[in-house]
Amino acid sequence: MQNGFTGKKIVLGVTGSIAAFKVAGWVSTLAQEGADISVVMTEAASRFVTPLTFAALSGNPVFTDMFQAEEAHAISHIQLGQEADLVLIAPATANTIAKLAHGMADDLLSTTVLAAACPVLIAPTMNSKMLENPATQRNLTLLRELGHGIIEPEFGKMACKTEGPGRLPEWEDVREQLLASLTKQDLAGEKILITAGPTRENLDPARFLSNRSSGKMGYALARTAKRRGAEVLLISGPTALPTPYGVRRINIQTAKDMHDAVMDNCGAASVIIKAAAVSDFRPRKTALEKVKKDTAELVLNLKQTDDILKKLGQKKEKYDYLLVGFAAESSNLRAAGEKKLKEKNLDLIAINDIGCSNTGFEADTNQVTLLDKDGFTELPLISKEQTANLILDRIGKLLTPDS
Ligand code: CTP
Repeated sequence: MQNGFTGKKIVLGVTGSIAAFKVAGWVSTLAQEGADISVVMTEAASRFVTPLTFAALSGNPVFTDMFQAEEAHAISHIQLGQEADLVLIAPATANTIAKLAHGMADDLLSTTVLAAACPVLIAPTMNSKMLENPATQRNLTLLRELGHGIIEPEFGKMACKTEGPGRLPEWEDVREQLLASLTKQDLAGEKILITAGPTRENLDPARFLSNRSSGKMGYALARTAKRRGAEVLLISGPTALPTPYGVRRINIQTAKDMHDAVMDNCGAASVIIKAAAVSDFRPRKTALEKVKKDTAELVLNLKQTDDILKKLGQKKEKYDYLLVGFAAESSNLRAAGEKKLKEKNLDLIAINDIGCSNTGFEADTNQVTLLDKDGFTELPLISKEQTANLILDRIGKLLTPDS
């Protein structure tokens, strides 16, 4: 299965900002992920980082001058833009932004953008005062109106020692925006609620009952659904994972918190995916003081929590969402999955074998069997991100059966 950058032709335009050195790292990562990167530098950019650096990291010649490109590399001044799958301008200075907003074509970079037949993403990077200047803001509005994507700059400390908006964002967020531009937006218009991670049921101020869920499967679903154009709300138990770019996240601790957050938000969702490993039991009483080891044995008195998914199944017809559950099983996988699909009134269930080290809890890979009204489909052992995409493919088919 292909990764999103494999074989993609990306033109990276680098302009004259100190942040150009950061982008050198991005080129290295993109090249490792299989992208074919052509770097175009403005004259000012080559004063910050040498073209040789980008040539070495991309493995391709770097273009700095329109006429030199035509003579030495036998490419026409419009070829780069026309053959690319994506053009990224990062860092983009106020000057380049002004030129692009007005359709100027006085160097190879601006010519490439004007001739581009693919998405163009621009990462404004400059001093906050320059960014906030009405002239720059108007130029950014013009670029948006032209259909270009703007990668919002971050707030933080600048090279000029001031603090404010204008910093180049971190690679992980930029990576997601690049991938979204290269990905079919087949889930645009869908509002997807995803639950992820474990829940924690407090025993006393020091201890809780929980499970081995890392949240990786639910977060992979949230990240890929957002990349495919959906609006995503992630209701998450405690995990060490960062919030995927562009995803709204509500943090919860207990099964009761998750129940309340899901019930508050289910009415607005068109799809609900319950990937969380919810505690089935909670202590009947939470001790206010730390429980001391003054007895040889301790018996915990537990009470069942609400089955959130089952409750969602009962409300499905009223709210008209598509309902997807998971089943964590260590034996009789198919029979157990089939029972949960029926009993919880689901449209789709992803049955997870938690008995192996490379599937289920904590692993980066997964092997699930999908079950819906058309029967079982066994997915291969693949990364959780690839599994997420296949689950979303199936959800897409259930949403629009004729597509
Ligand atoms: N689930 C839920 N609320 C609970 C327990 C589970 O919403 N209190 C959801 C999970 O998010 C998952 C599905 O139900 O999507 C199946 O969870 P699983 O742990 O496999 O099964 P259970 O229904 O808890 O049954 P059992 O533990 O007996 O297998």
